[in-house]
Amino acid sequence: MRTENDTWDIKTSVGSTALFVAAARALEAQKPHPAAVDPYAEVFCRAVGGEWADLLDGGAPEHPLKTEFGNYFVDFQAVRTRYFDTYFEAAAAVGVRQMVLLAAGLDSRGYRLPWPDGTVVFELDQPRVLEFKREALAAHGDAPTAERREVAVDLRNDWPQALRDSGFDPSKPSAFIAEGLLIYLPATAQRQLFAGIDSLAAPGSHLALEESVPLDADAFKAKREEELAGENDRTFYTLVYNEQHAPAHEWFGSRGWWAVATPLPYQLRSLGRPVPEPHSESGVMTGNISLISAIKD
Ligand SMILES: C[S@@+](CC[C@H](N)C(=O)[O-])C[C@H]1O[C@@H](n2cnc3c(N)ncnc32)[C@H](O)[C@@H]1O
Repeated sequence: MRTENDTWDIKTSVGSTALFVAAARALEAQKPHPAAVDPYAEVFCRAVGGEWADLLDGGAPEHPLKTEFGNYFVDFQAVRTRYFDTYFEAAAAVGVRQMVLLAAGLDSRGYRLPWPDGTVVFELDQPRVLEFKREALAAHGDAPTAERREVAVDLRNDWPQALRDSGFDPSKPSAFIAEGLLIYLPATAQRQLFAGIDSLAAPGSHLALEESVPLDADAFKAKREEELAGENDRTFYTLVYNEQHAPAHEWFGSRGWWAVATPLPYQLRSLGRPVPEPHSESGVMTGNISLISAIKD
């Protein structure tokens, strides 16, 4: 269960969710026609080793990514990666040079996207997550494709100040991303996150985030209890808050941003991936998620 100031590394608590989504990206990259290729996802899995490496070699049959849910989850990560890669390419194309990865986790865009000269990629996450990523990629001989600045901070604290202290310039346009983050924040921290982004974003700034409609409270409680009783093959419901401060496109839309929400099933279909049956666990997850893009007027 979560606590107010909890911390983690890449293998524990919320940190392990970064590894989980990276492993999904690594599995996607092995497909004959991947929707997105993140070659560094495999590097991270092999650096951790054990079941995370076995998974990529056809082993770890009990791993949650090897289930039916796991297959849909890999598709979800594939189309989500493509959506946010396209978002950053568009922001860079119109001259934005400050990219801010909120909850960077094992997002390797600072190493794999072809950033224009002069681009700075700020990566915010807990210190031990950033440390793992830096060391794993350095050991593999990889270098960033932009100037990369780590901002080791908890996003429930004063991250806007930490970002400014790292050289972020709020007078220039920027592009923020919050991919796979909001569910791990209580509603109060989501509100601070939205307000922080809005306060730092100059006109012409871009924002992309992923959001999820909370589950019905009773259903969530039951899922959490199942997990605590060891009846689930993965840890999820004890790590998330099941809270939503506000639908992001409405919150930002009422504060001078043009915001568009794309339902995840639309993104899956548009890239030729299956949409799970709505009442299955994968279907409920998929049906509740939207991908949001916004530009500040
Ligand atoms: C599911 S992962 C997503 C990582 C990355 N954005 C991606 O999509 O690959 C969630 C990430 O959120 C980070 N995170 C969650 N809550 C955080 C907090 N309060 N402060 C800093 N990082 C946080 C975790 O450390 C983890 O890296």
